[in-house]
Amino acid sequence: YRLLIMNGPNLGALGERQPEIYGTTGMDTVPALVKSLLGPAASDIELTFFQSNHEGALIDRLEQARRDGVDGVILNAGAFTHTSLALADCLAWIGIPCVEVHLSNVMARQEPMRHKSLIGRHVIGIIAGFGIMGYALAVQAMVQHSRKSGD
Ligand code: DQA
Repeated sequence: YRLLIMNGPNLGALGERQPEIYGTTGMDTVPALVKSLLGPAASDIELTFFQSNHEGALIDRLEQARRDGVDGVILNAGAFTHTSLALADCLAWIGIPCVEVHLSNVMARQEPMRHKSLIGRHVIGIIAGFGIMGYALAVQAMVQHSRKSGD
């Protein structure tokens, strides 16, 4: 069972970027969090990580995931969540189940722009506000979803 965990712009220095909003831990802790959350089931899951600040590179990577037959995508698209019709269009056709993740609770943030997700209608569900743990929760949600839907 192969999952791609993908981060968009300004998420390459997670742990250093505005830690009061995005936390002090980096993506390197995610595999351990997945293990502690899923237990032995975690050993069947292969996680691949990708980060880019570029919209097109994210789309290229999703198309590659489709060619590779990846089972699911966990996506924190950063600000592209709120702006990128191109990323939304990509998720609409590639046919890979996706869970949207945000470290912060975007609905509780000041800027109204952050309350809107263009990719939201093409994902199974959204996890926001739980910091780095959100990625592990998304893996768990994805695994349970695919068991249920028989993918
Ligand atoms: C974010 C929320 C977005 O609004 C913001 O642009 C980010 C990170 C989050 O993880 O909380 O870059 O996706």
